[in-house]
Amino acid sequence: MTDLAPLLRLENVTKRFGGLVAVDEVSVEIHHGELFAIVGPNGAGKTTLFNIISGVFIPDEGHVYFEGEDITRLPVYKKAPLGIGRTFQIPRPFGGATVRENIAIGAMFGTLSGKVSVDEAMEIADRYVDLVGLQEHRDKPAGGLTPVDKRLTEIARALAMKPKLLLMDEAMAGMNPRDIDEMVAFLKRIKEEEGVAIIAMVEHIMRAVVGLAERVMVMHQGAKLVDTTTKEALSHPEVIDVYLGKAPE
Ligand SMILES: Nc1ncnc2c1ncn2[C@@H]1O[C@H](COP(=O)(O)OP(=O)(O)O)[C@@H](O)[C@H]1O
Ligand SMILES: [Mg+2]
Repeated sequence: MTDLAPLLRLENVTKRFGGLVAVDEVSVEIHHGELFAIVGPNGAGKTTLFNIISGVFIPDEGHVYFEGEDITRLPVYKKAPLGIGRTFQIPRPFGGATVRENIAIGAMFGTLSGKVSVDEAMEIADRYVDLVGLQEHRDKPAGGLTPVDKRLTEIARALAMKPKLLLMDEAMAGMNPRDIDEMVAFLKRIKEEEGVAIIAMVEHIMRAVVGLAERVMVMHQGAKLVDTTTKEALSHPEVIDVYLGKAPE
C-alpha cells in the first residue's frame, strides 16, 4: 500500500482566515523524487498551502496524506521526522550560530531525529556545507551571510534533515537570472543525488519554472487552476489569461 501511494496527496484541502478562503478545495498528488512547481500571483494561497503541508496550519476541510498515511492534524515537530523539510520565504538562520551549526540542527530534527549524536550531526553538516559550496563560510556566524548564502544555508539545513519531500517557499526570490539558472541546476542535481522530491514555489519567475519542474500547479485566489506538465500549463488559455497575461519567454 505504502509503495503504491503517492508521496504526498492533498484531498479537497480548504483553509479560511475569517471570511477569506486562502486555500480553496485543492487536490493534488506529488510523487517520490519529483520536481514540482507551484506558481501563482501574490496572495494566491501558496504559502498557506505550504503551511498546511508542513503542519503550521490544520486545514478547515480536507485531508493531507504522506505515503498513504493521514497526517492532516500532525504538528510540525511530528511531520519533520517523517521526512517533510522546508525552507522559508524569508530565510531565518540562527544568526549567532555558525553555518555548520545551523546545518547540524537540521540533522538533529529531521528523519534522523534521536538517532544521531551532536558529533554525528556536525559530520553530516560538513557534507552539506560542501554540497552547497559554503566551505569558506563554514565557521562564520550565519547572520553575516549574503541573502543568497543564507538561502543556501537554509537549503543545506533542510537537506541535512534527509527529507523525502523538500518544500521551498519562494525558492528564487530576489535572484538575478544567473543565480536562478544556477539554483535550477543545483535543485536538479540534489533531486538526483539525494533522491528527494521537491516542491518549489515560485511567484513570477517563469524562467525558473520552465527550466526546473516536470509538473506545475497554477493557483489563483486559493484555487487550483491547473495541475499538469509544465509545457501544457504554459499553453493553457486560462493560465495565460488569468495569471501570465502574456506568453512566457
Ligand atoms: N495568518 C493569516 N491570517 C489572515 N490571512 C492570511 C494569513 N496568511 C495568509 N493570509 C491571506 O491568505 C491569502 C493567501 O496568502 P498566501 O498563502 O500568503 O499567498 P501566497 O503565498 O500565494 O502569496 C492572502 O489573501 C493573505 O492575505
Ligand atoms: Mg507566499
